Amino acid sequence: MKKEIKWDISLETGVEEIDKQHKYFIKILNEINDAILRNSRDGALEALHFMDRYARWHFGTEEKYMKKYGYPDFEKHRAEHKKFYENTRRMLQHAREKGIDNVFAFSINKYLIDWLILHIKGEDKKFAEFLRNNKLVVEKEKLPDSFEKLEKT
Ligand SMILES: [Fe+2]
Ligand SMILES: [Fe+2]
Repeated sequence: MKKEIKWDISLETGVEEIDKQHKYFIKILNEINDAILRNSRDGALEALHFMDRYARWHFGTEEKYMKKYGYPDFEKHRAEHKKFYENTRRMLQHAREKGIDNVFAFSINKYLIDWLILHIKGEDKKFAEFLRNNKLVVEKEKLPDSFEKLEKT
């Protein structure tokens, strides 16, 4: 039942800052997975909250550059982000109200991982290709202070 995600070359977009953020994203998903495997529901919930905040910040970075550079598929890409955080919000609400049982925990984890892989390999790579083809730069983003925990790891 172990569902974890490992970084590999097939997930690389070739845009340094975006790849760096995706690696953090994966790290958080693996923290959720670890918490589930340890049977730590509080840990899973906490990691899920953290992932939700991180996802918003990461999507914000991508969307900022899509707007800045007039990316033609912006709306389609943004719609995928929106669907993701609507779904995670629903999961968080369910988890808060009803708790996290094992079946729910594994389905959350599977959804998050499957979504991220598909999204990176699809829309994120398309956007990265647009950036690279047009020699457009994505600057290093500073993580907000509340994410410091991640920066140190
Ligand atoms: Fe994206
Ligand atoms: Fe992304």
